[in-house]
Amino acid sequence: MVAELKVQEIYPTPLWLMDLDEKTRTRLNRDLLKKIHALTEPKPVLPVGGSWQTDPMLQELSEFEELLGLIRKAAKGALDFLQVEYDDFEITSCWANINPTGGKNSSHTHPNNYLSGVYYVAVPKGTGSIDFKDPRVQASAIMPPVKERNAFNGNNVTVPVMEGRLILFPAWLNHEVPVNRGDKERVSISFNIMFTRFTETISPTLWRKGSAPVRMD
Ligand SMILES: [Fe+2]
Repeated sequence: MVAELKVQEIYPTPLWLMDLDEKTRTRLNRDLLKKIHALTEPKPVLPVGGSWQTDPMLQELSEFEELLGLIRKAAKGALDFLQVEYDDFEITSCWANINPTGGKNSSHTHPNNYLSGVYYVAVPKGTGSIDFKDPRVQASAIMPPVKERNAFNGNNVTVPVMEGRLILFPAWLNHEVPVNRGDKERVSISFNIMFTRFTETISPTLWRKGSAPVRMD
C-alpha cells in the first residue's frame, strides 16, 4: 500500500489584508485625495515612469490621524498573529504616491523596519495590482513548466488591489508596482513600522535568558 503524501508548509510568508467598508472608504479616500494633492502641488515634471511622492513624514500630521489609526490597528493585528513580544511599535515613515499614466515603482524592500504596507486611495480601473517576489532566490534555480500555478511553484505573487484596501507585509519582502496603463492617476499611501526602543528591548541576545528577548528596563 502506498502511504499518503502529506504537505507541510515551512517558513510561510504572510501578507495581511484589511478592506474598509464602502461608506468608510468613500469618505476617507475623498478626504485623503484632497490632502495629498494639496501636499504635492505644484507638481514637478516627471521623468518617464516617474511618480510624485510627498515627504515621508505624514505620520506627524494630525490631519492623517484616521488612516494612521487604521495602520496601527493592522500592525498590532499582524504582530499579534506573529506572537511577537514587544513593548511598543511606531510608524517610522508614511508617504503618498501618485502614479500617473506610465508611472510605476520598481522592485524594492523597506530596510530598517519590521513591517511595511500600503493603503489604496485611488485605483482607476485596470491599474490595480502589486507584485511580491519570491524571497527564496534559490527556489527559481530550476523552474519546470507547471500545469497550474500555486503557492508552491511560482516566483511572483500578484495581489489585486482596490480602493480602501490596506496591505501589510514583512519589510524585507521584495515588491513592485506595475506600470499604470490606465489614463487616470493611481494614488496610494505607503508606510513603515518598527519597534520603539529596538536596541533596548529587542536587540539584546536571545540566549541569555531562555528564548525570550531580554528586557533591559
Ligand atoms: Fe514599497
